[in-house]
Amino acid sequence: MPTPDLHAVELAETAAQAFRDAFGAEPEGLWAAPGRVNLIGEHTDYNEGFVMPFALPYYAAAAVAKAETWAFHSTYGEGDTVRADSLDGVEGWAAYIAGVAWAMNESGYPVAPAHIAVNSDVPHGAGLSSSAALECATLIALADLYGHEIDRAEAARIAQKAENEYVGAPTGVLDQSASLLCTEGNVMFLDCRDFSREQVPFDLAAEGLVMLVIDTQAPHRHVDGEYGARRADCEEAARRLGVPFLRDAPRDATLEDDRLNRRTRHILTENDRVLATVDILKRGTVSGIGDLLTASHVSLRDDYEVSSVELDSAVDAALGAGALGARMTGGGFGGSAIALVESTAAAKVEAAVLEAAAERGLPTPRVFVARAAAGAHRVS
Ligand code: GLA
Repeated sequence: MPTPDLHAVELAETAAQAFRDAFGAEPEGLWAAPGRVNLIGEHTDYNEGFVMPFALPYYAAAAVAKAETWAFHSTYGEGDTVRADSLDGVEGWAAYIAGVAWAMNESGYPVAPAHIAVNSDVPHGAGLSSSAALECATLIALADLYGHEIDRAEAARIAQKAENEYVGAPTGVLDQSASLLCTEGNVMFLDCRDFSREQVPFDLAAEGLVMLVIDTQAPHRHVDGEYGARRADCEEAARRLGVPFLRDAPRDATLEDDRLNRRTRHILTENDRVLATVDILKRGTVSGIGDLLTASHVSLRDDYEVSSVELDSAVDAALGAGALGARMTGGGFGGSAIALVESTAAAKVEAAVLEAAAERGLPTPRVFVARAAAGAHRVS
């Protein structure tokens, strides 16, 4: 077993204590799965395109033991326990856990009831995949407990199934793949068509750089409806172009419908930007990807229309204060942005981002430095 991430161990120990307090017994094991940022390749996953996430050192940890009936406990807020006689109709935060057990059953990896206590420090509602972290920690825990060897790419699909069909959010496979497949120190280049992937070294420190994550703290606005609408646009554009997915559209594809045309252009140019980013990183220069990050943001803002005033403010302020590149990350409509910054300029960029938000009367963003952490793993 690889050495567990130290921070994941701390979180898992708290989950273990919560398990003892809630269920009066010892867990049979501890597991952890991280949140993520996506470096580039946004809204490409459900178009069978390319993505490039890395895992954040924030985890959902699960303490789990086999039991007679299902029960889920979360350390969130005051602590909450949900008991369920079956996996039907579990709601709220526990749906992400029950949904994974349901999806495993549906996928030929049967599981019996368990008691599960979770503890997570992946920022909630920040577009950093707190729900995927919960799903993936649950999945690797139940797989281990019930003796299933599940390939990690297939596991990502199963966790996605839980989110799509049980929770009812029409997301792609980016977040679950990131949580399960990313490795420490690397950014993962993933082809969402066939799960071929490559871990590309991402050594920011060697170049005197840091990656800032800017959680805009923006309240959610009709995210699911808009996300689904973008997916529907892509499907319609692919249908009109006569290709299975927009990933397959010719580079010069044009449609009469202006909106569908812009959606198509985003997907095609974004896939190209991912490939260009991989090229530059492989030549060993992280600083060279700044313009690609910014171009991705512009495309998401103007062609794909998934940015927000908070995200634009953060990106513009970061660039204005000397960031080498900046963009929204994740689904958009609030959530988080990332900025590639020389270490010496990090404080100035952070100050500029906070000042810009204050001037516009926006929520105060939370800024932190990201590091490429380990993917989902058993802690003990
Ligand atoms: C959300 C979804 C992912 C992906 C991104 C956009 O994070 O969960 O599947 O589509 O948005 O890239």
